[in-house]
Amino acid sequence: MTDHWNALEALAQNASEHSILSLFDTPGRAEEFSTQTGDMLFDYSKTSIVAGIRDALIALAGAAGVAEKREAMFAGEAINDTEGRAVLHTALRNLDGGPVMVAGEDVMPGVLATLERMRGFAREIRNSKITDVVNIGIGGSDLGPAMAVEALSPYHDGPRCHFVSNVDGAHIADTLRGLDAKTTLVIVASKTFTTIETMTNARTARAWMTDHGGDPAAQFAALSTADDLTADFGIPAERVFGFEDWVGGRYSMWGPIGLSVMIAIGPDAFDAFLRGGQAMDRHFRAAAFEENMPVLLALTGIWHAQVCGHASRAVLPYDQRLKKLPDYFQQLEMESNGKRVQMDGTPVLVDSGPVVWGAAGTNGQHAFYQLIHQGTRVIPCEFMIAANGHEPDLAHHHQLLIANCLAQSEALMRGRSADEAREKMRTKGFTGDELERQAQHRVFEGNRPSVTLSYPLLDPFTLGQIVALYEHRVFVEGVILGINSFDQWGVELGKELATSLQPVVEGTAPAEGKDGSTARLVAFIHRNRDP
Ligand code: F6P
Repeated sequence: MTDHWNALEALAQNASEHSILSLFDTPGRAEEFSTQTGDMLFDYSKTSIVAGIRDALIALAGAAGVAEKREAMFAGEAINDTEGRAVLHTALRNLDGGPVMVAGEDVMPGVLATLERMRGFAREIRNSKITDVVNIGIGGSDLGPAMAVEALSPYHDGPRCHFVSNVDGAHIADTLRGLDAKTTLVIVASKTFTTIETMTNARTARAWMTDHGGDPAAQFAALSTADDLTADFGIPAERVFGFEDWVGGRYSMWGPIGLSVMIAIGPDAFDAFLRGGQAMDRHFRAAAFEENMPVLLALTGIWHAQVCGHASRAVLPYDQRLKKLPDYFQQLEMESNGKRVQMDGTPVLVDSGPVVWGAAGTNGQHAFYQLIHQGTRVIPCEFMIAANGHEPDLAHHHQLLIANCLAQSEALMRGRSADEAREKMRTKGFTGDELERQAQHRVFEGNRPSVTLSYPLLDPFTLGQIVALYEHRVFVEGVILGINSFDQWGVELGKELATSLQPVVEGTAPAEGKDGSTARLVAFIHRNRDP
């Protein structure tokens, strides 16, 4: 692998000698450096990637064994080898596919039976007196469904959905205020059913329901791999929707964890979401790397983060309803690929996955784009835009949205030279030193890379395609980095220390053994706490 990384570094040196804009002097660049699957277009032509670089990146992916590991994943091998688990979220959307084997057993009958139970339950709730659904979960048991319910609001014809995640009592208090306990369904979503935030919020919700005339025995459901714990909590088996440990938390919205989405948009629209994911799986497995959207998205990620050294990337959906997508991708990408060692325990050869952040456009333009355009660090951007909005009577809004999205990627690439800035200031009447000073503030270096994903409409099928596209991109990047994208040991230490600090904070144990800073903070909080 070292040879491949070295070759790419040399190519990056060469690439820095040409501007991205100048690459468009070659006719057909936009066509050659974009790919389409179904009616989704991925354009990566506004990057410094040229044919030789793409070949070298594809060779890197080949040497890392992306094709073999992709098949191992779909074949149900235990590729999450620090936990000894298969990785088969793809089975959850394998609607009319063949058998999927795990340890010699076809898991599809179980997957399809649970899906059918979810459909029945969702229909029952949608036809009942239930007006509000509160999903209590955190991380992968919250971010995906919360994002999808908002993204698909034009298709939302079921009860209102609310999402409570934070252990901060403010979250559940603000959510439950104004809800009717007699017409609320609480879904406790937790793969492990042990997560402290979720279990604390679930107990608070149960007490609230009892105190306000609801019936927790009839109005709670659970989504989990731990049926013994859901039973201990008092949730009857017919309202428990189980899944297996081969579905990772941040990959779980396709199955029971997506129940709130199914209740919101109905089983048929949820099926369309699954079919979008399945269509992306088929493309990912079948397309040559040169045309393979998840592979190419991953390779642009590797090129920018690990080869060119850009430490973060911005996800910029030009769609208000996708405003939670950057948060969702943050967990998907950073919990998956923020790892210091390779599978064999030796240090990674290059940087781990980048910081992922972002916001919906056009709002971000009026907040942080200043830094993206003129800051000293390069931040590769990932734009998303639909050809159509859902508001035909507001089509002029959508035209403006599109114009803004395209203008940003053009501005990032094109920039504004010192001469252009001087000319602009001259026409405003500036001269001499003041003209030069003012002009410098208006220079944009340009040559800043971005990719753009475009599609006709953000419907359930398209959302399924987008989520699966990014899941597979994370997988490919993880394979190239040699890491296990499916464990998350990095979250454990903080959890352990929080558990040991709880009695110290409560004042039932001394702060002995804690560092001076932590002990002083505890003392300050004790002094300032209301009696
Ligand atoms: O703390 C991290 C994590 O384990 C995530 O990976 C997971 O999505 C989240 O907590 C919630 O876990 P659970 O669904 O088991 O409550």
